[in-house]
Amino acid sequence: MKKLMVLAAGILQVPVIRKAKEMGHYVIAADGDANAIGLKYADKAVVANITDKKAMLQIAHNERIDGVIHPCSEVSMTVMGYINDFMGLSGISEEMAKRATNKYLMRKAFEEFGAPSPLSYCTIDVDNAWSVFCDKFDSNAILKPSRNSGSRGIAKIKQGICQDEFIRLYNRALNESRDKQVLIEQFVEGPEFSVEIIVWNGAVHILTVTDKKTTGAPYFVELGHNQPSIFPKEMIDAVQDAAVRGVKALNLDNCACHAEIKVENGNAYIMEIGARLGGDFISTVLTHLSTGIDMVAAAIDVALGKKPCLNAKGDKYGVCIRYFCPRPGILDSIKNIEVLNSEYIYESEIYCKKGDLIKEVRSSVDRSGHVITIDNNSIKAIERADAVMKQIIFNTI
Ligand SMILES: Nc1ncnc2c1ncn2[C@@H]1O[C@H](COP(=O)(O)OP(=O)(O)O)[C@@H](O)[C@H]1O
Ligand SMILES: [Mg+2]
Repeated sequence: MKKLMVLAAGILQVPVIRKAKEMGHYVIAADGDANAIGLKYADKAVVANITDKKAMLQIAHNERIDGVIHPCSEVSMTVMGYINDFMGLSGISEEMAKRATNKYLMRKAFEEFGAPSPLSYCTIDVDNAWSVFCDKFDSNAILKPSRNSGSRGIAKIKQGICQDEFIRLYNRALNESRDKQVLIEQFVEGPEFSVEIIVWNGAVHILTVTDKKTTGAPYFVELGHNQPSIFPKEMIDAVQDAAVRGVKALNLDNCACHAEIKVENGNAYIMEIGARLGGDFISTVLTHLSTGIDMVAAAIDVALGKKPCLNAKGDKYGVCIRYFCPRPGILDSIKNIEVLNSEYIYESEIYCKKGDLIKEVRSSVDRSGHVITIDNNSIKAIERADAVMKQIIFNTI
C-alpha cells in the first residue's frame, strides 16, 4: 500500500481521492476548509493551509508519503513541487511548477523553446500597458492576470477602446492577479481546444483533444466541452504538435498536463499549459468516457513513481459537458428538471436553489450547474446536451 497526499479536497478532487482509494492506496487529503467534501473520502483528513509550503512539507514528511498530487487546481502547485524536491518524489519540481503557473514565465519558456505562443508583454503599470497596446498592437489584444485561473480578470481589448475603459479592465485584471502582474497579449481568434496529456519518463503521451465552448469576449468563461474533437484532422494535428512542444518547453515530466490551444488560420497558439489534471471534469470524467483510458489512475501512478497504464480498457463514447448559466437575478423556479433523468445523461448537478442570487457569468465559479451527456459520437452527445440546456428553464426575477 502506498501513501498518497492529495492537496485540495473540493468537488473536483473527489474523483482522484476515490480512485486512489479504489487502487488500494492510503490517501491523505488536505484542504484549508474543514467542510471540503473530499476530506470524508480519504483515510486521513488534514485541515491545513495547503499554500503554506513549509507546513505542508512537514505534514508530508511526518506521514512519510510516497507521492503527492494536486489535481484540477493550481493554488498549491509550487507547494507540490517543493515537497517533491525535498522528499525526492516523482513529479514536477518547484521550478517547473513556477513556470507552469506563472503565465509570464510560461510565455518566456515558450518563446525561448520556439513553442507557438501569442505575442505577450508583461506590463509594469497601467500607463505602460496602455502605451504597449497603442505602440505594439494593430489588432485586438487581451489583458490577463499573470497568476490566476478560471478566466478571472481576463478581458479582450478591441482596437478603438477608449483609455478609461482600458484602465477599468486593467485594474480588474490587476485585482485578480496573485502576483500583481498583468500581461497584455495578441488576441488569437478561432476555435479553442484542450489536450489531455500524461508525461512519463520524458515521453509525452497525448490521450485526447477536447473542443471547448466559451462565452467569448469579454470574459471567456467555459460553457462546455466535448470529446473526441469534431474538427478536421489537420487542425487536431496542429493542436497536438503545439501541445507537445509546449510541454517540452516547460520541461515537464512525470505528471498529467492540460494544455489549452487556439487555432487561427491553421496556426496553433498555446494559451497555457497546466502541469496537472484539467478541471471542468475533462480529465476526471470525460477523458475516461471518450478514450477508455483511466487518466486519473494514470496521474496517480505517475505521482507515485509507477509506470502508468495508457491502454484503453472501457468502451469509448462521444461525450459532452455543458454548464447552466441562467439570466442574472433571484432564482424563482427551475422547470423541466426531470429531463435530467434521461438515459443519455451520465451525470448532472445544479448548484443553486430557489432564492439564490444568480450573478452574471464572469468566471467559472459563477456557473449554476452542469450536465454530462454520452452517446455514440460527439455530435450526438452535443445535440443531447444542447437540448437539455434548452429544455431546463431557470426563472429568475
Ligand atoms: N492570447 C489570447 N488570445 C485569445 N484568447 C485568449 C488568449 N489568452 C486567453 N484567452 C482566452 O481566455 C481564456 C482564459 O485564459 P487562460 O490564459 O487560459 O487563463 P486561465 O488560467 O484563467 O484559464 C482562454 O481559455 C481563452 O479562451
Ligand atoms: Mg485556462
